[in-house]
This record gives sequence, structure tokens and C-alpha cells, in this order.
Amino acid sequence: MRASNSGAILSLFLHYLLAVSASTTQYPSTVVDGDSIVQYIATSAIDAPKVSTINATSYDYWYFDAVSLDHEYSVVAVFYAAPKTSFPFLPKNQQILAAQISVQTPGAVTINTTYATAATLTVDDINNDIEGTWEGIGAAFTGTRNMTLYNVTFESEEQLGVSGFASFKSIAPPHYVCSPAEEGANMELLPHVGWANAIPDAHAIVELEINGTRVSFSGVGYHDKNWGDAPFQDAVTSWYWGHARVGPYSVVWFDAIASNGTEYASGYVARDGQILGIACGTDKAKVRPIGNTTYPPHTESNTPDGFQIEFDLGEDVGVFEATAKAEALALQSQTGVYSRWTGGISGGLRSEGKVFNGTSLFDQFALTS
Ligand SMILES: *[C@@H]1O[C@H](CO)[C@@H](O)[C@H](O)[C@H]1NC(C)=O
Ligand SMILES: *[C@@H]1O[C@H](CO)[C@@H](O)[C@H](O)[C@H]1NC(C)=O
Ligand SMILES: *[C@@H]1O[C@H](CO)[C@@H](O)[C@H](O)[C@H]1NC(C)=O
Ligand SMILES: *[C@@H]1O[C@H](CO)[C@@H](O)[C@H](O)[C@H]1NC(C)=O
Ligand SMILES: *[C@@H]1O[C@H](CO)[C@@H](O)[C@H](O)[C@H]1NC(C)=O
Ligand SMILES: *[C@@H]1O[C@H](CO)[C@@H](O)[C@H](O)[C@H]1NC(C)=O
Ligand SMILES: *[C@@H]1O[C@H](CO)[C@@H](O)[C@H](O)[C@H]1NC(C)=O
Ligand SMILES: *[C@@H]1O[C@H](CO)[C@@H](O)[C@H](O)[C@H]1NC(C)=O
Repeated sequence: MRASNSGAILSLFLHYLLAVSASTTQYPSTVVDGDSIVQYIATSAIDAPKVSTINATSYDYWYFDAVSLDHEYSVVAVFYAAPKTSFPFLPKNQQILAAQISVQTPGAVTINTTYATAATLTVDDINNDIEGTWEGIGAAFTGTRNMTLYNVTFESEEQLGVSGFASFKSIAPPHYVCSPAEEGANMELLPHVGWANAIPDAHAIVELEINGTRVSFSGVGYHDKNWGDAPFQDAVTSWYWGHARVGPYSVVWFDAIASNGTEYASGYVARDGQILGIACGTDKAKVRPIGNTTYPPHTESNTPDGFQIEFDLGEDVGVFEATAKAEALALQSQTGVYSRWTGGISGGLRSEGKVFNGTSLFDQFALTS
């Protein structure tokens, strides 16, 4: 009896030790040979690392953006653990720990990328507080429990020419491709690409100094992460993604074509801090370009004027539809592979017959010519 009692106490104690500990992932600056263990079923904190070690064909990254309400300013910050072999849009470098910031101001876009010598990602096992530090370059992010408050900070005058912060106060619940953020949920957007959206919509505050110029605004914020166990360019043929605040609605869309030609789509709408519906699959969610362009998009396609979004959110809620206008470039690759825009968006629930105006930021990948 005694032995089993102390065994029970010991096991309780161990349990306590494990429970109060934090999980820290440390990334080396280059790829590690061998198999990456990649997670597509939700079992850990939504923002925890999803790839055990980064090899030459896997990647994991954390993405943040904020766009001003007049959509003339935006900031996108991305923290990568990604080799160029699996995420070819990064600068040529043997290193994998890129921190990247792009800033859109009226008539200008600046992007800067720098590499950290190491990075650590710590998730507190009790309350899921998260902290990511890309070391030696003054770039970091923190997130508090239940994903309500995030802060991306830069003290990177030398490496990125940027100092300041972008903070995010969430106003819409987190979600995965087809479900709210719950354990056991599917996180695979399309084969070999994972997606977890911790902050679909947030009140964002941006206070940055870039090259000695102050960029400060408040607006609509967003944060997610992507990862994969195969090179992005081998898994994806094209993709449309975006997010918006339209009147009382927080909106997120994805509509992508996998390498074998199959289309995958997901649409999310929240209102008053609650998920109104998630449209899952191509029979429920559809995003198409407008203007004199082609679908699917190719690298040679004309720039779309914007996107038409339609989600069937089920019998109770009905159809949500909106049109996002590509009014300003937030980033564009010279190759035509990648474009990001900001612009106004108008839409709402068809059943309400009311059209709201709002603010959106969205992108397009076209990986074939
Ligand atoms: C990386 O890991 C994945 C498993 O997740 C494996 O399929 C792939 O072959 C590995 N890549 C390399 C270059 O070893
Ligand atoms: C998130 O956590 C904070 C502090 O712990 C709490 O006040 C707040 O109600 C929580 N929000 C949600 C949506 O659970
Ligand atoms: C974010 O970090 C900056 C710089 O450390 C700080 O000044 C600001 O108050 C923080 N914002 C929030 C909401 O925590
Ligand atoms: C990136 O930041 C460095 C350091 O401030 C600066 O020298 C360089 O001009 C910046 N590049 C761009 C494209 O802004
Ligand atoms: C920062 O400086 C670089 C190099 O001079 C320049 O290309 C870039 O446009 C500047 N960025 C901003 C936001 O002023
Ligand atoms: C593409 O791959 C998916 C997943 O393996 C499969 O379900 C689908 O049928 C394939 N589509 C085509 C057109 O082969
Ligand atoms: C549409 O784009 C094509 C290809 O760039 C061009 O030839 C055509 O004139 C355009 N049509 C209109 C109506 O602008
Ligand atoms: C939305 O914007 C359009 C075009 O700018 C304008 O005509 C319309 O009145 C606006 N609607 C609302 C509800 O503000």
C-alpha cells in the first residue's frame, strides 16, 4: 500500500512538474537532415510549432498583419523557420530563420528580410502564453493566454531598419480550416499545407520607425501560421487568401488549388466575438477574381481588380457575400508569382439585404506560367 501510495504521489508530483513546465522549441539556423514530424491534427496550442525539426523540404512560419482603416497603410511581419528549398520566395540564403517586414505607405512598399542565428519558441503549457524570439536581430512576438493579446516587437535598426511594435487585441475566435479551434480538428488546408488562424480579426495598433520615418496607425489586424512537410511550390498551384472587417463582420477566406488540380476552400465569418459560421469545401466557399483576368491565375495573368467572395454558412445564417477591391499594392514579386493588396470591401449577409463597407488585406499566389 505504502509503495503504491508513494508511487501515486510521485506520479502526481511529476504531473505537476510537467504541467507547470513550458515547452521550448529551439531552432538552429540551418536545416536538420532527416524526417520532420509534422502535425495536421490539432493536439497542442494553436500557435505551437507544428514541425519537429526543419529539413530541406519542410517549413513552419508565423504571420502577422495590420491594415489601416483607410487601407493606405499596412504592415506585414513574418517569422520563418523555412529553407529556400521549401519556401522559395525568401532571399537566397543557406539560413532558415528569416524575419521579414513589409511596410506599405501611400505610393510605396518596402520589404526587408534578415536572418537570425537561432530562434526559440516557448509555449507555456498551462495557459498557452507564447513567445517567439528570433535571436540577435531584435525581432520577437508574444501572445497572451487564450490568444487575446499579441505583440510583435522590433528593435532592429541595424538589421531591418525598423523599431517599434504592432499589437493585436483579438475580436474574433480562433479557428482551423473547417472548425473552431478545438482539439482533434483538421488543420490541413490542402495536402502538405497546414493552417492555424489564432487571430482572424483584431484591433491593431502599429507604431514603427522605419529608416527614420514614423509609420503609425490603428486598424484591422490578423495573425495565423502555415507549415508543411513538402515544398510549398510542389504542393500549391495557386491560392487566394484574405481577411477583412466588414461592418460588424470579421471575415477570412482561402481558396486554393493543390498540385493535382483539386480546389480547396474555406470561409469564416464572426460577429460580436462569436463564430457565425465556417463554410467548408468548394461547394460552400468560393473566391473568384474580378476584372479582366483569368481563373485559375497564372504568372502572366492580368492583375485582378479584386475578388468576389461567397460563403454558404448553412440554413440558419445563409449566404455571406462580399467584393474586395485591390486598391493598393502591399507587395508584389517581380515574377508575378505573388501579389498582396489592400482595399475596401463591401458585403454582408444576403438574407439581411444590408451592404456594409470595410477594410481588407488579401493575397494571391500563382505558381504556374
Ligand atoms: C523531411 O521530412 C518529411 C517528413 O515529414 C519527409 O517526407 C521528407 O522526405 C524529408 N525531407 C528531407 C529532405 O529529408
Ligand atoms: C482570456 O483571458 C483573459 C485573462 O485571463 C480573460 O479575462 C478573458 O475573459 C479571456 N477571454 C476569453 C474570450 O476567453
Ligand atoms: C507592445 O510592445 C511595445 C514595446 O515593448 C510596448 O511599448 C507596448 O505597450 C506593447 N503593447 C501591448 C498592447 O502590450
Ligand atoms: C534593410 O535594413 C537595412 C538596415 O537598416 C538597410 O540598410 C536597408 O536599406 C534596408 N533595406 C530596405 C530595402 O529597406
Ligand atoms: C528605406 O531605405 C531603403 C534604402 O535607402 C529604401 O529603399 C526604402 O524605400 C526605405 N524605406 C522607407 C519606408 O522609407
Ligand atoms: C488530388 O489529391 C487528393 C488528395 O490525395 C484527392 O482526394 C483528389 O481526388 C486528387 N484529385 C485529382 C484530380 O486527382
Ligand atoms: C483583357 O486582357 C487582354 C490580355 O491582356 C487584352 O488583350 C484585352 O484587350 C483586355 N480586354 C479589355 C476589355 O480590357
Ligand atoms: C460604401 O461605399 C460606397 C462606395 O464608396 C458608397 O457609395 C456607399 O454609400 C457606402 N455604403 C455604406 C453603407 O457606407
